[in-house]
Amino acid sequence: MNPYNIDDPVLSLIGQTSLVEHPKNLLGDLHLKLEKENPTGSMKDRIGLGMILEMRESGEISDGDLVIEASSGNTAGAVALAANRLGHDSIITTPEKTSPQKMGFVKAFGSELVTCPDVNSDHKDHYRAKAQQIADKRGGIFLNQYHNQLNPKVHEKWTGPELWNQTNKLTHIVCPMGTGGTLSGIGKYIKNQDPSVNIIGVDAKKSNISTSFYDKEPVKYDTKIEGLGKGGETPTMWFDYIDEIISVKDEEAIQWAKKAAREDGLLIGTSAGAAFKIAYNIANENENASVVSIVCDGGEQYFDTLNYM
Ligand SMILES: Cc1ncc(COP(=O)(O)O)c(C=O)c1O
Repeated sequence: MNPYNIDDPVLSLIGQTSLVEHPKNLLGDLHLKLEKENPTGSMKDRIGLGMILEMRESGEISDGDLVIEASSGNTAGAVALAANRLGHDSIITTPEKTSPQKMGFVKAFGSELVTCPDVNSDHKDHYRAKAQQIADKRGGIFLNQYHNQLNPKVHEKWTGPELWNQTNKLTHIVCPMGTGGTLSGIGKYIKNQDPSVNIIGVDAKKSNISTSFYDKEPVKYDTKIEGLGKGGETPTMWFDYIDEIISVKDEEAIQWAKKAAREDGLLIGTSAGAAFKIAYNIANENENASVVSIVCDGGEQYFDTLNYM
């Protein structure tokens, strides 16, 4: 099922994540895809590895090249791990507000961490601008998950078929969106198998993925939910394969992540909580629904929010 020929025992741990049935007796079916099972705890392990392998294959990255990525979250650790195992030095740029847990992966795997001020994306010191400047100066390769088409393509090649093979009946997929790579890649693969499956993206309330999708006036981007939402559309959002984008308030995302832990013993992250709310309601209102909700990462990364807010 893994599209890449990996002979490394550590990198072989990526993918083939569980699809667990929701334990309550709902009207329809609900399953959760536990991407938290990946080695650094999120689905970003797939693109960390996949982008580097594809770019090595195409000659854009050569043996020993310096690899650079900009990330405020899970991609940081994912790239640090893949680079470590594939023999590349790596540098990760992050905004200052990135959680210590996520920066921890970067340091642990021996990647260089460059923290940047929390400034607007058009500022020269923004963490994405910084990544490009470092790449130019030190002759490294900037992966750039926000623009790199390999981000959704890796999910199209890998997560989509894996999920399709794990399901007998599928009516809806619900997935949080940031770069949009996960949902876009899964969505394209699934639509090609069965165009009737509803591909549903989840955005933060004060975010501009949904305003862009529905051609509405942008709002001021502001969310506490890590990984969820974006200031505007990016080229990694393949809207052609997405049917609907639903916005969820920060408090609801947290409340539903808490509910999954307390009521169902499922420790899911807060962006996954937002998707869980939408997926649960669809499954509970339609007896013919067979819904898959993507759990991008686990609640163990957010105990400060889940237990104290
Ligand atoms: C916890 C979490 N949820 C959702 C997302 C969004 O995933 P994507 O960027 O593939 O849309 C991310 C991305 O970093 C994330 O870290």
